[in-house]
Amino acid sequence: MTFIPWTAALKLGVPIIDEQHRVLVDLINALHAAISDAAGARDAIADILEGLLDYTHNHFIVEEVLFQKHGYPDADKHLSEHSGFTGKMMNWLTRFEDGEDVNLEVLDFLKDWLVHHICEEDRAYLPFMRAALAKEAMAA
Ligand SMILES: [Fe+2]
Ligand SMILES: [Fe+2]
Repeated sequence: MTFIPWTAALKLGVPIIDEQHRVLVDLINALHAAISDAAGARDAIADILEGLLDYTHNHFIVEEVLFQKHGYPDADKHLSEHSGFTGKMMNWLTRFEDGEDVNLEVLDFLKDWLVHHICEEDRAYLPFMRAALAKEAMAA
Protein backbone atom coordinates (compact mmCIF):
# COMPACT_ATOMS: atom_id res chain seq x y z
CA MET A 1 0.00 0.00 0.00
CA THR A 2 1.19 3.49 -0.82
CA PHE A 3 2.66 5.23 2.23
CA ILE A 4 0.95 8.57 1.49
CA PRO A 5 -1.91 8.11 -0.98
CA TRP A 6 -2.53 11.20 -3.12
CA THR A 7 -6.12 11.85 -2.07
CA ALA A 8 -8.66 14.60 -2.77
CA ALA A 9 -7.99 15.97 0.74
CA LEU A 10 -4.45 16.91 -0.35
CA LYS A 11 -5.58 18.77 -3.47
CA LEU A 12 -5.99 22.48 -2.98
CA GLY A 13 -7.26 23.21 -6.50
CA VAL A 14 -4.34 25.47 -7.42
CA PRO A 15 -2.50 23.53 -10.17
CA ILE A 16 1.02 24.94 -9.64
CA ILE A 17 0.84 24.23 -5.90
CA ASP A 18 -0.84 20.83 -6.28
CA GLU A 19 1.83 19.72 -8.75
CA GLN A 20 4.59 20.63 -6.31
CA HIS A 21 2.85 18.98 -3.35
CA ARG A 22 2.41 15.88 -5.49
CA VAL A 23 6.16 15.72 -6.13
CA LEU A 24 6.81 16.01 -2.38
CA VAL A 25 4.37 13.16 -1.69
CA ASP A 26 6.03 11.05 -4.40
CA LEU A 27 9.50 11.70 -2.95
CA ILE A 28 8.42 10.73 0.57
CA ASN A 29 6.81 7.58 -0.87
CA ALA A 30 10.05 6.81 -2.72
CA LEU A 31 12.01 7.30 0.51
CA HIS A 32 9.62 4.98 2.33
CA ALA A 33 10.03 2.32 -0.38
CA ALA A 34 13.84 2.62 -0.32
CA ILE A 35 13.98 2.33 3.47
CA SER A 36 11.51 -0.58 3.59
CA ASP A 37 13.61 -2.47 1.06
CA ALA A 38 15.86 -4.78 3.08
CA ALA A 39 18.57 -4.37 0.46
CA GLY A 40 17.99 -0.60 0.38
CA ALA A 41 21.25 0.94 -0.73
CA ARG A 42 22.43 3.96 1.25
CA ASP A 43 23.32 5.72 -2.01
CA ALA A 44 19.75 5.48 -3.24
CA ILE A 45 18.40 6.72 0.11
CA ALA A 46 20.90 9.60 0.12
CA ASP A 47 19.81 10.65 -3.38
CA ILE A 48 16.14 10.70 -2.41
CA LEU A 49 16.83 12.55 0.86
CA GLU A 50 18.85 15.21 -0.95
CA GLY A 51 16.20 15.49 -3.66
CA LEU A 52 13.49 15.85 -1.05
CA LEU A 53 15.36 18.57 0.82
CA ASP A 54 16.08 20.43 -2.41
CA TYR A 55 12.56 20.21 -3.75
CA THR A 56 11.01 21.14 -0.40
CA HIS A 57 13.24 24.18 -0.23
CA ASN A 58 12.26 25.25 -3.75
CA HIS A 59 8.57 24.73 -3.07
CA PHE A 60 8.72 26.79 0.13
CA ILE A 61 10.43 29.60 -1.81
CA VAL A 62 7.63 29.60 -4.41
CA GLU A 63 5.06 30.09 -1.64
CA GLU A 64 7.15 32.59 0.29
CA VAL A 65 7.92 34.82 -2.71
CA LEU A 66 4.19 35.11 -3.40
CA PHE A 67 3.52 35.82 0.30
CA GLN A 68 6.05 38.60 0.29
CA LYS A 69 5.09 40.08 -3.04
CA HIS A 70 1.38 40.18 -2.34
CA GLY A 71 1.41 40.71 1.42
CA TYR A 72 0.09 37.51 3.00
CA PRO A 73 -0.98 38.51 6.53
CA ASP A 74 -0.01 35.16 8.14
CA ALA A 75 3.36 34.94 6.42
CA ASP A 76 5.43 34.99 9.63
CA LYS A 77 3.71 31.97 11.15
CA HIS A 78 3.82 30.09 7.83
CA LEU A 79 7.50 30.87 7.29
CA SER A 80 8.43 29.65 10.74
CA GLU A 81 6.66 26.33 9.98
CA HIS A 82 8.66 26.05 6.76
CA SER A 83 11.99 26.86 8.39
CA GLY A 84 11.37 24.49 11.31
CA PHE A 85 10.74 21.67 8.86
CA THR A 86 13.75 22.50 6.67
CA GLY A 87 15.95 22.58 9.78
CA LYS A 88 14.75 19.12 10.84
CA MET A 89 15.38 17.71 7.37
CA MET A 90 18.87 19.16 7.21
CA ASN A 91 19.58 17.63 10.59
CA TRP A 92 18.45 14.16 9.40
CA LEU A 93 20.48 14.46 6.24
CA THR A 94 23.60 15.34 8.25
CA ARG A 95 23.00 12.45 10.66
CA PHE A 96 22.44 10.09 7.74
CA GLU A 97 25.68 11.22 6.14
CA ASP A 98 27.39 10.54 9.49
CA GLY A 99 26.24 6.92 9.30
CA GLU A 100 22.88 6.90 11.09
CA ASP A 101 19.93 5.20 9.42
CA VAL A 102 16.70 6.96 8.52
CA ASN A 103 14.04 5.07 10.46
CA LEU A 104 10.30 4.74 10.15
CA GLU A 105 9.82 7.31 12.92
CA VAL A 106 11.35 9.90 10.60
CA LEU A 107 9.08 8.74 7.78
CA ASP A 108 6.02 9.03 10.01
CA PHE A 109 7.06 12.54 10.99
CA LEU A 110 7.51 13.55 7.32
CA LYS A 111 4.11 12.16 6.45
CA ASP A 112 2.27 13.74 9.39
CA TRP A 113 3.99 17.08 8.92
CA LEU A 114 3.34 17.30 5.18
CA VAL A 115 -0.29 16.17 5.35
CA HIS A 116 -1.01 18.54 8.23
CA HIS A 117 0.81 21.44 6.59
CA ILE A 118 -1.02 21.04 3.26
CA CYS A 119 -4.44 20.44 4.82
CA GLU A 120 -4.22 23.20 7.43
CA GLU A 121 -1.56 25.86 6.79
CA ASP A 122 -1.52 25.78 3.00
CA ARG A 123 -5.29 25.41 2.76
CA ALA A 124 -5.63 28.56 4.87
CA TYR A 125 -3.83 30.64 2.21
CA LEU A 126 -6.12 29.58 -0.65
CA PRO A 127 -8.12 32.81 -1.11
CA PHE A 128 -4.89 34.81 -0.86
CA MET A 129 -3.02 32.47 -3.25
CA ARG A 130 -5.75 32.51 -5.89
CA ALA A 131 -5.78 36.31 -5.86
CA ALA A 132 -1.96 36.49 -5.92
CA LEU A 133 -1.69 34.10 -8.88
CA ALA A 134 -4.42 35.99 -10.76
CA LYS A 135 -2.40 39.22 -10.30
CA GLU A 136 0.74 37.43 -11.49
CA ALA A 137 -1.09 36.16 -14.59
CA MET A 138 -2.40 39.64 -15.38
CA ALA A 139 1.07 41.13 -15.03
CA ALA A 140 2.62 38.48 -17.32
FE1 LIG B 1 3.00 23.95 0.32
FE1 LIG C 1 3.51 26.02 3.04
